[in-house]
Amino acid sequence: MMLKLLQCSLLTLLYTQDSAASPEQSSSVALDGEYTLSWLQDSLVITEGDTTVWSTVPGKPFIGASAGNDSFPGSNGAFNITQVDIDRCTDQSISSVQSVPWDGTVTGSAGQVKGQLLSCGTGSAEFELTFWISANLTDQVAFYLNIIQQSGSATPLKKLYFSFASTANEDIYGLGAQASFASLKSQSIPVFSREQGVGRGDQPITGILNQNGSFAGGDKFTTYTAVASYITTEGRMFSLSEKSTGYVNFDFTEPDTVTFRYDSLSVDGAFAKAGDMFGAVERLTALTGRMPQLPKWVDNGAILGIQGGQSKVEEIVLHGLNVSCPIAGVWLQDWVGTHSQAGPYINVSRLWWNWENDQQLYPAWPAFVQGLRDQYNVRTLSYVNTFLANVSTKPDGFERNLYAQADKAAYFVQNTTTNSTAIISSGPGLDAGIIDLTNPGLRSWFSQVLKEQVWGANISGYMSDFGEYTPVTSDTRLYDLVSDAFFAHDEYPLLWAQYQRQTIEELGLENEALVFHRSAATGANQYMNLFWVGDQNLDWGVNDGIKSVVTIMLHMGLSGYAHQHSDVGGYTDTLTYSNYNVTRSAELLGRWGELAAVSSSVFRSHEGNIPSVNAQFYSNDTTYQYYAYNARMFVALAPYRRLILETECATKGWPLLRPPVMYHPQDLKARQISYQSFYLGPDVYVAPVLDAGVQAVSVYLPGGSNSTFEHVWTGQVYEGGQDITVSAPYGKPAVFLVNGTQRAELKSFTNFVHLENGTKLSIA
Ligand SMILES: *[C@@H]1O[C@H](CO)[C@@H](O)[C@H](O)[C@H]1NC(C)=O
Ligand SMILES: *[C@@H]1O[C@H](CO)[C@@H](O)[C@H](O)[C@H]1NC(C)=O
Ligand SMILES: *[C@@H]1O[C@H](CO)[C@@H](O)[C@H](O)[C@H]1NC(C)=O
Ligand SMILES: *[C@@H]1O[C@H](CO)[C@@H](O)[C@H](O)[C@H]1NC(C)=O
Ligand SMILES: *[C@@H]1O[C@H](CO)[C@@H](O)[C@H](O)[C@H]1NC(C)=O
Ligand SMILES: *[C@@H]1O[C@H](CO)[C@@H](O)[C@H](O)[C@H]1NC(C)=O
Ligand SMILES: *[C@@H]1O[C@H](CO)[C@@H](O)[C@H](O)[C@H]1NC(C)=O
Ligand SMILES: *[C@@H]1O[C@H](CO)[C@@H](O)[C@H](O)[C@H]1NC(C)=O
Ligand SMILES: *[C@@H]1O[C@H](CO)[C@@H](O)[C@H](O)[C@H]1NC(C)=O
Ligand SMILES: *[C@@H]1O[C@H](CO)[C@@H](O)[C@H](O)[C@H]1NC(C)=O
Ligand SMILES: *[C@@H]1O[C@H](CO)[C@@H](O)[C@H](O)[C@H]1NC(C)=O
Ligand SMILES: *[C@@H]1O[C@H](CO)[C@@H](O)[C@H](O)[C@H]1NC(C)=O
Repeated sequence: MMLKLLQCSLLTLLYTQDSAASPEQSSSVALDGEYTLSWLQDSLVITEGDTTVWSTVPGKPFIGASAGNDSFPGSNGAFNITQVDIDRCTDQSISSVQSVPWDGTVTGSAGQVKGQLLSCGTGSAEFELTFWISANLTDQVAFYLNIIQQSGSATPLKKLYFSFASTANEDIYGLGAQASFASLKSQSIPVFSREQGVGRGDQPITGILNQNGSFAGGDKFTTYTAVASYITTEGRMFSLSEKSTGYVNFDFTEPDTVTFRYDSLSVDGAFAKAGDMFGAVERLTALTGRMPQLPKWVDNGAILGIQGGQSKVEEIVLHGLNVSCPIAGVWLQDWVGTHSQAGPYINVSRLWWNWENDQQLYPAWPAFVQGLRDQYNVRTLSYVNTFLANVSTKPDGFERNLYAQADKAAYFVQNTTTNSTAIISSGPGLDAGIIDLTNPGLRSWFSQVLKEQVWGANISGYMSDFGEYTPVTSDTRLYDLVSDAFFAHDEYPLLWAQYQRQTIEELGLENEALVFHRSAATGANQYMNLFWVGDQNLDWGVNDGIKSVVTIMLHMGLSGYAHQHSDVGGYTDTLTYSNYNVTRSAELLGRWGELAAVSSSVFRSHEGNIPSVNAQFYSNDTTYQYYAYNARMFVALAPYRRLILETECATKGWPLLRPPVMYHPQDLKARQISYQSFYLGPDVYVAPVLDAGVQAVSVYLPGGSNSTFEHVWTGQVYEGGQDITVSAPYGKPAVFLVNGTQRAELKSFTNFVHLENGTKLSIA
C-alpha cells in the first residue's frame, strides 16, 4: 500500500526546526526499481515491493561516532587490538530524508538521510547517510555513510558507529576465516588481518605462548583475513565495499541489533535480502566477485608437500607410484634453500626469502621441474611471499640479493623514523622488508622477478604466503598512501592477490596456475583460485587444530571464498620447555587426509614446521598407504566436485563445503554445527573423524524425516532430524549420499567405496 503512494512522490524534502527531534511525519523516497527508503517517525526502513529489506531499530539512534585512537600494539603480524572510545555520541536527530543526484544508478538519484549527532562530549557532528541501487547490481542496496566533524571539538572524532535491526532468531555466518564459532550471533568480531596465533584459546599451548606480554598464541578472534562480509539465516547479506579497508568490528551481542564500528568517518558497502542463504551468497559474490576457476589438473591426485632436495623428492614420488598414490604435483617450498634458526631442543629450518633456486638443494631447478613433468606427469609448485630477506649471509651464495636491490630503490614499506626499510623480523637472522605494492616501480621490477625467476621454471603455481604484516604505526609510510598505513594494512591482502592474478593473466596461465593464499580481504576472492586455511596446530584442537579447518571453511565459504583447502597434517609444531610439545602423530596425519579428501577442492600436504619430529606420509609404507588411499578417495570424488565447481561455485559463488544450516536454516541444531559435519555440494553429507583414538562418529542428520542419508560404507539409510552413531574406522569417515541421489558424477566415488571397502589401513 505504501509502495503505491511512493511511486509518485519522487522527492520528499522535510526539515524540522527542532534539531533534537526527527521529522515529525513519515517521509519516503523512491529508490530505483521497486525499492523505497522511508522514515517512519522512529525508524528507517528500506522495502522492495512488500518485503522489508532492511531497517533500523525503532526508537534507537542508529548513527554514532567517537574520538580516541584505537591501539594495535604488537609486531611481526601479531597485533593485539584495544578499542578506545572517548566522547562517544549517544544521541542523534534526523533533519531530512530526500532524493539527491547520484551517479551509477538507473535514475541518477539516491535517497539521503541527514541529521546531527548529539551528546558527543565537547564536539558535535552531522551525518549524511545515502542509499542507492547501483545500475550494475539491482538486487542490492548500496550505502555510503559520512560523518562531518563540526569545528570546536577538543578531541576530534575518529570513528563511526552504524546500527540496524536483527532479531534474536537470526544467526550469522561469515566475516572471513572465523575458526572458533558456529553462528557469530552473540559475538563481537573484529575484522583485521593478522597472524592467527598458535593455539587461539586451545590450552595449554595458548597460555604458554602468550606468556610475558607476547601475543603469539592469539585468541578466538585472531585470523589471517579481513573480510567484512556476512550472511544470515534470514537470507540477508551485508558487506563493506573493498575500498572500505579501515579496521571494523561487528557487534552481534544485542539480540535485536547489529552494530558495526568503523575506524574512520566514512564507510561504504551494500546489503540485500534474498530468499535464503544460497541467494544471499549469490548476491554477496555478485558484489565482491567470484573465485577464478581451479585448473583441472588438481583433480588428478595429491600434491605432495616435500622438502629436502631433488633426489629426496624423486624418491618419494617413486615410492608413491609404488603404493598406488595418484600424484598431481609436488609442492617444494624449500626451492629457495633453508637456514637454521635456534629453537627449544632443535634448530628450526627457515626459508631464504629470495626468489631464486638454491644451488645445493635444487641445482638443476628448471630441468628438474621439467623432468618430473615429462617422466611422471607430476607438476611442481613452489613458494613466494610478500617479503624479501637479506641473503648476504647465505653460506652458499646467491645470484641476486633481491633485498639489497629493493632496499636501495625504496621498494619496501618504509619506516619514517629510520628513513629506511621497515624491518620485519621473523626470528633470529631473518630480517626482511615488505614489498610496497602501491609503488609502480616495485610492481614492474617484482613482476619481472616473478616471471623470470619464479614462473620461468615452468612451475604450475605456488603458496603465496603472508600479507598480514604491514605495520600500522604512524611512522609507517607507503608509496602512494603517505599517512594511511592504517587503511593500507587491511588492503594489502587484496593488492597481493590482485597482483598475483595479474601476473598469471599476463603470462596466459589462467588454466594452469594454482596460487593459494591465506591472507584475504573483502573482494580478494575475485583474484585467487584457491584459499588455504593457514597454519594449524598439529593436534585435534577446536580453535587451532584439525577441527578449526572445517569451521574456517564454513565461514570463509559464506564470505564468498568458494574453493578452499588446508595443509594435510597441519603445520605448527611447538616444542616447549614447559613440559608440553605439539608434534604430529600418524593418526592425525591419516584423519587429516580423510578430511581433505571429502571436504577440499585441492589435496596438498605439509611436512610441518619441524619435519623431523612429525609423522610424514612418506615415513614408511604404512603411512604412505593411508595417504595414498586418501588421495584415491579425493580423486574418486573429482567428477562430482568438478560439476559443483562449474555449475554452482563459478556461476553463483556458492561454496563447495556447505554448513548444514545452509540447507536447513530453520533447524536450530543445524545452526550450531561448526566442525562436526557439513555438506560437500548438495548430494554428499559428511561427518569427519576429528578426534584421536575413536573408531566411530556421532552425527546429527539435519532436516526432517523427508530428508534421507545413505551411509556409503554400510548402505544403511537414515532419516533426517536425529543423532546417530556410525562406525568410522581408519579410511571411513562418515559419508552419506543425500536424498537418494543418482548423480552420474558420483559413480566413481561409489565404485571406490565398493572396491576399497576391504582395504586395511593402519597407523602403527
Ligand atoms: C591520536 O593520534 C593522533 C595522530 O597520531 C594524535 O595527534 C592524537 O593526539 C591522538 N589522540 C589521542 C586522544 O591520543
Ligand atoms: C591484549 O590486550 C588486552 C587489552 O585490550 C589485554 O587485556 C590482554 O591481556 C592482551 N593480551 C595479551 C596476550 O597481551
Ligand atoms: C558497471 O558495469 C560497467 C560495465 O560492465 C562497468 O564499466 C562499470 O565500471 C560498472 N560500474 C560500477 C559502479 O561498478
Ligand atoms: C616467560 O618468562 C619466563 C621467565 O623468564 C620464562 O621461563 C619463559 O620461558 C618465558 N616464556 C616465553 C613464552 O617466552
Ligand atoms: C618400487 O617397487 C619396486 C618393486 O617392488 C622396488 O624394486 C622399488 O625399490 C620400489 N621403489 C621405491 C621408491 O619404493
Ligand atoms: C631519507 O633518505 C633519503 C635517501 O637516503 C635522503 O635523501 C633524505 O634526505 C632522508 N630524509 C631524512 C628526513 O632523513
Ligand atoms: C621504525 O624504527 C623504529 C626504530 O627502530 C622502531 O621503533 C619502529 O617501530 C619502526 N617502525 C616501523 C613502522 O617499522
Ligand atoms: C619435547 O620435545 C623434545 C625434543 O624432541 C624432547 O626432548 C622433550 O622431552 C619433549 N617434551 C615432552 C613433554 O614430551
Ligand atoms: C611408520 O611411521 C609412523 C610415523 O612416524 C610410525 O608411527 C609408525 O610406527 C611407523 N610404522 C612402521 C611399520 O614403521
Ligand atoms: C520436509 O520436512 C521438513 C521438516 O519436517 C519440512 O519443514 C519440509 O516442509 C518438508 N519438505 C517437504 C518437501 O516435504
Ligand atoms: C532432501 O529432501 C528434503 C525433502 O524434499 C528437502 O527438504 C531437503 O532440503 C533435501 N536436502 C538437500 C540437501 O537438498
Ligand atoms: C563393506 O564391508 C562390510 C563388512 O564386510 C559390509 O558389511 C558392507 O556391506 C560392505 N559395504 C559395501 C558398500 O560394500
